[in-house]
Amino acid sequence: MLTTITARLIAATSLIALSSVAMAAEVNVYSSRHYDSDDALYEEFTKETGITVNRIEGKADELIARLEAEGENSPADVLITVDAGRMVRAEEAGVLQPYKTDEINKFVPEYLRHPDNLWFGVSQRARIIFYDKDRVENPPRTYEALADPEYKGQICIRSSSNVYNQSLLASIIEADGADEAKTWAQGIVDNLARAPQGGDTDQLRGLVSGECDIAVANHYYFLRAYDEDVEGLSAGIDNIGWVWPNQSGRGAHLNLTAAAMAKSSPNPEEAQALLDFLTGDYAQYHFANQNNEYPAVPGVGLDKDTARLGFFVPDTTTPTASFSANAKQAQEIFNAVNWQ
Ligand code: FE2
Repeated sequence: MLTTITARLIAATSLIALSSVAMAAEVNVYSSRHYDSDDALYEEFTKETGITVNRIEGKADELIARLEAEGENSPADVLITVDAGRMVRAEEAGVLQPYKTDEINKFVPEYLRHPDNLWFGVSQRARIIFYDKDRVENPPRTYEALADPEYKGQICIRSSSNVYNQSLLASIIEADGADEAKTWAQGIVDNLARAPQGGDTDQLRGLVSGECDIAVANHYYFLRAYDEDVEGLSAGIDNIGWVWPNQSGRGAHLNLTAAAMAKSSPNPEEAQALLDFLTGDYAQYHFANQNNEYPAVPGVGLDKDTARLGFFVPDTTTPTASFSANAKQAQEIFNAVNWQ
């Protein structure tokens, strides 16, 4: 008798425990994005779905190493990296599983997705050419032209350890072949105005200080200098021109914030709900525009600040997955030409 009562009590307690688990639906996100503007996005997701978002932020490599170390016990449901190039490491580490394609592949173009649905793009950043309008009459119109001897001693670009440059070179390997890509990298090294140093904002600052005539940087670092007072940049910004590269060819190189489902996701339904949400209108508009990025889903509007750089042809012919596939070869080329 006692045993029966005890068993019923245990059963009742388990039910309460289970229902409280069901009520507290949550999704655990490992993210290498670090923008406060993402908070509002996750709050909206929670409002719409009742699912709480727990975020752990860190550098992509650290998050991937953590996922690997945690293995089957990992609490991670979703991984977000600021550059799809990092997703190859997650893929190689075996910490991803395919997402459900129904919604996502309807909206995100094929060239912005992994061929086996291990990750997909949510927002894009363009890596473009900036120049000083007084000192440069004839700026390079393509990435390839940056290596032209005409620009000797004029170019500023950050180091080869930077993933944006790794993806750019990987895209050039894909477009022009490895031999041409190596010749290009050597040409850039020969044209440098100074040893690679600092972040993208520092390359733009170099234009204002006069150290650099031409700089390669992601577009939103430039746009940010309109929105906020960026020391050493905003005051001189009107003298900086920009070129959307390769507009009569393959188009401008964009790198991609990508999202994926973690292999051992303990909350796969909630993870899928978040991934689906990220490709919806609300998320696409906010995810992109809040940080002056470009949406991954075609047809989503831009706000006027983000649209400031005008229309451009993006490179839609080079699959983003090739940035990952060519990453190792890109590193070998950087080493061979001694691009610091
Ligand atoms: Fe960035």
